Amino acid sequence: METLILKQQQLDQAADFIRQGELVAFPTETVYGLGADATNETAVKKVYAAKGRPSDNPLIVTVSDIAMVEKYTQPFSDDAKALMAKFWPGSLTMIFKLKPNALSKAVTGGLDTAAFRFPKNQATLDLISKAGVPIVGPSANTSGKPSPTTAQHVYHDLNGKIAAIVDDGPTTVGVESTILDMSVATPSILRPGAVTKEDIEAVIHRPVIDELHHVGAKQTPKAPGMKYKHYAPNAQVYIVDPDDDWHDVVAWIKQHPQPIGVMAFDDVIKTINWPDNVDVISLGNDARTAAHDLFAELRDFDNHPAYKIIFTQGIDPKGIGEAYMNRLNKSAGQMHFKQL
Ligand code: TXA
Ligand code: MG
Repeated sequence: METLILKQQQLDQAADFIRQGELVAFPTETVYGLGADATNETAVKKVYAAKGRPSDNPLIVTVSDIAMVEKYTQPFSDDAKALMAKFWPGSLTMIFKLKPNALSKAVTGGLDTAAFRFPKNQATLDLISKAGVPIVGPSANTSGKPSPTTAQHVYHDLNGKIAAIVDDGPTTVGVESTILDMSVATPSILRPGAVTKEDIEAVIHRPVIDELHHVGAKQTPKAPGMKYKHYAPNAQVYIVDPDDDWHDVVAWIKQHPQPIGVMAFDDVIKTINWPDNVDVISLGNDARTAAHDLFAELRDFDNHPAYKIIFTQGIDPKGIGEAYMNRLNKSAGQMHFKQL
């Protein structure tokens, strides 16, 4: 099957594919997702096959209105209602307790909860409304690879495996949504994203737990997907931490005359006299541009197999910088320049 690239005017065709149990990749403000009718178990199972995703890893359910969530979940708490009012549509995914047997095991991985997401992308909200069903929506990449931020990234990974991709240009945020577990006594952030701990606490006026996803956390990850290898390009990524000296990195590069990638901020890039064997790509000026560019730049290096090493600038994990560092740590498999 050749995967069709559809424009916004062709959403009826995309909705037909969803209703027929086919897979359609869709845009969101974070990353592209891989859609299938969440109420059709056969269709949902195709998502795992297309991505090569372990089948115990539950899927996010993507909706176009709150009534679609209520249909499957236990009644919302006041906190949940306040968070929806503030952040939906947007980059906060919330986990709720389900009504018994409300969704198939293929969606939930056998849990009595499910994660719900109301993305801020009009084409996708229209697609879901037209299809009339919620759609599962994992990131539309081959499992283990950086998440896709353009329709071309999706095509690269999934051409021939899915019916269509709805192309709405590059995503704006660049890293996946914040996942907040609302099924427990104290709401817990399972994956950091553009909506931060501070943003959430300002709405519910009580502390949320934000340790579960930290590197080195001992407990079994509550979000099953967090235990797998993630976001890894073909090259080995090394994090250059804020306390490292980039002149030491350059000295190392000079001793290793092979193609080497560098991803750094503009203020670092302009102060260094880069050796010829380095390809330097800018992460922009701040945590927001870095989060936006990270996955796309890692994928760019994958197009040039000669690059076996990429040095990527680490930052203070504050605000969206926490999401950036969370994804960068996984891309690097926790490897730092200091370990070389
Ligand atoms: O921004 C996003 O959230 C993107 C776009 C496409 O919407 N989607 C996305 O989905 O990142 P995915 O499947 O790549 O990541 C979802 C994560 C996984 O780590 C999964 O294990 C976790 O959410 N998850 C899903 N349902 C869960 C549940 N009931 N309890 C705990 N974790 C859950
Ligand atoms: Mg993913």
